[in-house]
Amino acid sequence: MTSGVNPFRHFLLAGMVMVVLMFVLKFLAASLIEGEQLKPVLDWFGHEHQQSAGIQSETQSIPGHTNPVTPRSSVRYQWQALPDRPPSPMHNPWNKARAEVGKRLFSDTNLSLDRSVSCASCHDNDTHAGADGRPTAVGVGGQAGPRNSPTVWNSAYQQWLFWDGRAASLEEQAIGPLLNPIEMAMPSAEALVARVREDRVYIELFEQAFGSADAIGINEIVAALAAYQRTLITPDSPYDRYVRGDTSALNPVQLRGMALFEELGCVNCHSGPNFSGAGILANNSPWRIFPALDTPFEQQYQLTEDLGMAPAGSTKGVWRIPSLRNVAQTAPYFHNGSVTELEEAVRIMASAQLGHQLAQTASESEFVWSDDGYLIPVQRRTVTEQEVQAIVAFLESLSGELSHY
Ligand code: HEC
Ligand code: HEC
Repeated sequence: MTSGVNPFRHFLLAGMVMVVLMFVLKFLAASLIEGEQLKPVLDWFGHEHQQSAGIQSETQSIPGHTNPVTPRSSVRYQWQALPDRPPSPMHNPWNKARAEVGKRLFSDTNLSLDRSVSCASCHDNDTHAGADGRPTAVGVGGQAGPRNSPTVWNSAYQQWLFWDGRAASLEEQAIGPLLNPIEMAMPSAEALVARVREDRVYIELFEQAFGSADAIGINEIVAALAAYQRTLITPDSPYDRYVRGDTSALNPVQLRGMALFEELGCVNCHSGPNFSGAGILANNSPWRIFPALDTPFEQQYQLTEDLGMAPAGSTKGVWRIPSLRNVAQTAPYFHNGSVTELEEAVRIMASAQLGHQLAQTASESEFVWSDDGYLIPVQRRTVTEQEVQAIVAFLESLSGELSHY
């Protein structure tokens, strides 16, 4: 017995070696792990996936909402989510009471000459995402204005307002429609103040908001309207959720559209969290020539009848770069509301602003003479219909619900 081999002892030894080996392997695996490749090994050891979870959060929750798909090594466009609250100017600090007065004023038809039109007539927050669904606006007496009603949603994030960007703040903007003869047509600021004073409810509301019983003046009226509009924001669109780290918020087609939006050059103008060079958080120039290049679209949609900010004698207009948030809900498109389909708006942008050829109309190849006398092909990227659809799918991801204030 003493000199013989004890099979039990062998078994014990082999068992101990196994345990040590497993421990070493697990340690190695945990310290070497780089991605998903070793997950099965860890699963085998009953590991809790802490490593891979850690890797995820490292790329996805960088403060400032850095895009999770941005490769670490290259300098690429930084996708940004909308901040949860827009800033207010020093002279109009935001408070709930101001926003409440503004809300009432916004849908009060007594603020128009014939008491038939309110801000909400053209900026419908219930059914048209802050726009009106019409090609151009209709004001008092059914008069049609020359321009499309843009959405007021997220306009709190715009530095320059109106299609031509002529107003520098919501406060400055609000006086426009109130006194515009074909919008609300009030004859003067005094007449407007008198109308507001007619309604006893306002006396108390203004007192709460501005701290004085005789606080109803034109400045307070526009301040309240602006405070209300600063609540009309949509910071929780699928796009925002994606950028904040929820990788399931966009589908593969939308992601392809997002990549195309960057690759084709849309981000050159529709940049920053509000997808507009005129946004308070974008560092881009707010105005651009539109349409920048000659295309048949110009004639087809009368895009150069109104020239916006362009100096007299110009052949092309100059316009503020609009935000593209909720754009899928605010057809028809452009300053004159002449385009009803978002697909068509994307085609126009790709060709008239960026010079891409469209697959529908693409010619075989184009050549130009080089300086030294050779015919060389023009390299212009062709945008296919499928790509147009993908961009539209991405733009749809910019639609969000109004946030709850
Ligand atoms: C008759 C329709 C109509 C009414 C009423 C109206 N608006 Fe507008 N609104 C428009 C149109 C059209 C534009 C664009 C005008 C332009 O660019 O020249 C506009 C632009 C705006 C903008 C700028 C949005 C942007 O993206 O630049 C804001 C903000 C706005 N309106 C708020 C208001 C407020 C507040 C009221 C009520 C005091 C109001 N509107 C009343 C039609 C209307
Ligand atoms: C050179 C600057 C520039 C580039 C690049 C650009 N846009 Fe625009 N975009 C504008 C301007 C300016 C307008 C406003 C035109 C007007 O006044 O009607 C606009 C309007 C739009 C509109 C209509 C918005 C509305 O509410 O009616 C859409 C949609 C749009 N752009 C999408 C795109 C897409 C997609 C791309 C890339 C393929 C793109 N844009 C590239 C400047 C640009």
